[in-house]
Amino acid sequence: MNIQVRIKEIRTEFDSEFSACLSLEDFNNLQRKYLSRKGIVASLFKEIPKLSADEKRSAGKHLNVLRKSVEEKISEAIQSFQKKKKIDLSMDVSLPGTPEIYGNKHILSQVMDEINSIFNEIGFSVETGPEVETDFNNFSSLNFPENHPARDMQDTFFITKDVLLRTHTSSVQIRVMMDKEPPLRFISPGRVYRNEAINARSHCMFHQVEGLYVDKNVTFAELKGTVEYFCKRFFGKDVALRFRPSFFPFTEPSAEVDISCFLCGGSGCRVCKHTGWLEILGCGMVDPNVFKSVGFDPEKITGFAFGMGVERPAMLKYGITDIRMFWENDIRFLHQF
Ligand code: DAH
Repeated sequence: MNIQVRIKEIRTEFDSEFSACLSLEDFNNLQRKYLSRKGIVASLFKEIPKLSADEKRSAGKHLNVLRKSVEEKISEAIQSFQKKKKIDLSMDVSLPGTPEIYGNKHILSQVMDEINSIFNEIGFSVETGPEVETDFNNFSSLNFPENHPARDMQDTFFITKDVLLRTHTSSVQIRVMMDKEPPLRFISPGRVYRNEAINARSHCMFHQVEGLYVDKNVTFAELKGTVEYFCKRFFGKDVALRFRPSFFPFTEPSAEVDISCFLCGGSGCRVCKHTGWLEILGCGMVDPNVFKSVGFDPEKITGFAFGMGVERPAMLKYGITDIRMFWENDIRFLHQF
């Protein structure tokens, strides 16, 4: 075939392949196909020596034109592609950002962190215990008599006769006293379980924070000071406290502590049921029988203990009206805190 015709054909072929190129890789392949040492253009050049002198000149001229135009078209395309790529990668600061959605700590964890840090300020460390407990740690060693109503199946989730879901964090008192020697000063936050109907005010699982201070000569005055310090830091410095005599098997004497309602300032509202007071915790001096059950000598050692719920203070402080919300994990609720 006449070389001029071949050149024309190659040109048309190149043009159509060129316009079909979509990516940088396509252009690089095209460049290799036409311009490499064994490429189409080079192979045409190799045919020149076979031609007559006249044909050589004109074929050489046309081939040079073809090569030049192929080179230019491809290198232009590659360059503009690289430029475009640069622009695409650069940041357009005028575009709106992609919003990042962060999770946040559950409100109960936040409240427990706050309680921990308040007690930490006055020298209480943190101890934890298991939610599945022995009857001994949960009841017997805490001086609950054999037939105490709290042991009843109606209140307690039993797993076996002697194993249960702990009904309070007081069991951690026993675990720590069995394990360590006085002086002991710790709080113990955690989940507890009771066989109760679920409604807006009560749930079958909730959280408590237990506190224990055991040493020589620990007094009720220190208990009062500790509880008062906590309440004023947690609820606000203006709250007043009221200690009411009460009963718990594991403390003697025992008290329940009310704070003045910080929502109405004590004048009476729906939340404090028009009494002006909110019940916050139970406390007392550790009963000698408890010390005996862990092998401490009640003649030498005294101590105070306290225990409070977490959900109720959290509900009061944050205006949460239904305890079930803590467990529903509705993102609209969780994100508010
Ligand atoms: N364990 C009690 C309860 O669950 C709360 C409590 C009361 C804990 C008095 C104490 C305490 O340590 O001294 O209701």
